[in-house]
Amino acid sequence: MIGDDFAELQLFITGPILLREEVRKAGLLPEFGHRDSENPKRFGSIMNNLKAIAGNPEGYTPIIFNGSGTNVLEASVRSLVADSEKVLNVSVGAFGDLFHQMAVLNGKNAVQLKFPYGSAINLEELEVALKEHKPDLVTFTHNETSTGVVNDVVAVCEMIHAHGAEAIIDGVSIFGGAPAMINECKPLMYCTSTQKSLGLPAGFGIGFVSEKALAKAESVTNRGYTTDIIAQFGKAKINQTLTTPNGTLANQMCVQLDYIVNEESVEGRFKRHEEMRSIAHKWVETMEGYELFAQEGFRSPSLTTFKTPAHMSIEKLKEVKELMRGHGYLFDPGYGKINKELAEQGESPIFRVGHMADIMPDMLRKYLEVLGGVLNDFK
Ligand SMILES: Cc1ncc(COP(=O)(O)O)c(C=O)c1O
Repeated sequence: MIGDDFAELQLFITGPILLREEVRKAGLLPEFGHRDSENPKRFGSIMNNLKAIAGNPEGYTPIIFNGSGTNVLEASVRSLVADSEKVLNVSVGAFGDLFHQMAVLNGKNAVQLKFPYGSAINLEELEVALKEHKPDLVTFTHNETSTGVVNDVVAVCEMIHAHGAEAIIDGVSIFGGAPAMINECKPLMYCTSTQKSLGLPAGFGIGFVSEKALAKAESVTNRGYTTDIIAQFGKAKINQTLTTPNGTLANQMCVQLDYIVNEESVEGRFKRHEEMRSIAHKWVETMEGYELFAQEGFRSPSLTTFKTPAHMSIEKLKEVKELMRGHGYLFDPGYGKINKELAEQGESPIFRVGHMADIMPDMLRKYLEVLGGVLNDFK
């Protein structure tokens, strides 16, 4: 039968992620009409709980976009960067680069400021770029999933605002696992998605849009249709989506966000992510030759990146992946493009451990113990 050979693996990659049993079961709840009175039973609760997880930012409305995080990032670029304006895309890795690529592909006047893999945004260098380029808008990544770096969003936004620009933040892999700091940062828009720290399957992008963003979008031409935050807002404010949503995911999201807010608690969830970061950091001390890759002080609470010893290679990490599969786990052998570049420089690769969403500290400890055994067989 179809599905009989689908492996039941514990996912320790950085999204999609392991789903709680209750979330899987919620996929069996009844389908519904998205313009029917059944719709607000799901989306009313979803919108309220999204705001609670975001820290109830004043003046922001969550919008659910069909698609994934990328769709929301594209909507922010299409809706908020006018033809006469310049956008500075600040990148600390692959997803910061993606934001720039999207701005360029959408014909925006875009410049990029790049930091080396593993580094966080350096405020002095950011200031130099702000003075040089005088951008109207700045995009950056809260939690860079390719390198395991978490940026100091408050300090970065302060700097951006001090130079008269507006911020757009990609919070895809951290929202639901740590404070989004929207109230403190006041970005025009904060973008995220379902399949990372919120613990859901992929399928929706989520954008918190400010009143300022909605007013600004009025003066931007060619916002597109699904990428138009004004059209999206028109439906979001009545707890609907602009286009037909995935009803299965909506049911799962309704159940999961209620669990996060009313059972686990938002604070408890954030603390658990911090605890898992500590577990990952302590583990590396037991691993001879392995080191944390991300800059100290800027290490993500939702994933950790590890620099391997000189004898490791991309090929060997692929073997590790298959050995871990044999133990019932899906191992993440690192972001492909970064490891390719490291190899070209004669450097050993990095790998990632996703510890986001509903991975529990004990599950992580067990995983790292097994992984340690597998890695130590490679000398
Ligand atoms: C930081 C970050 N931004 C953007 C994306 C793209 O999001 P999606 O895959 O949901 O389109 C990802 C996906 O891994 C991500 O980690």
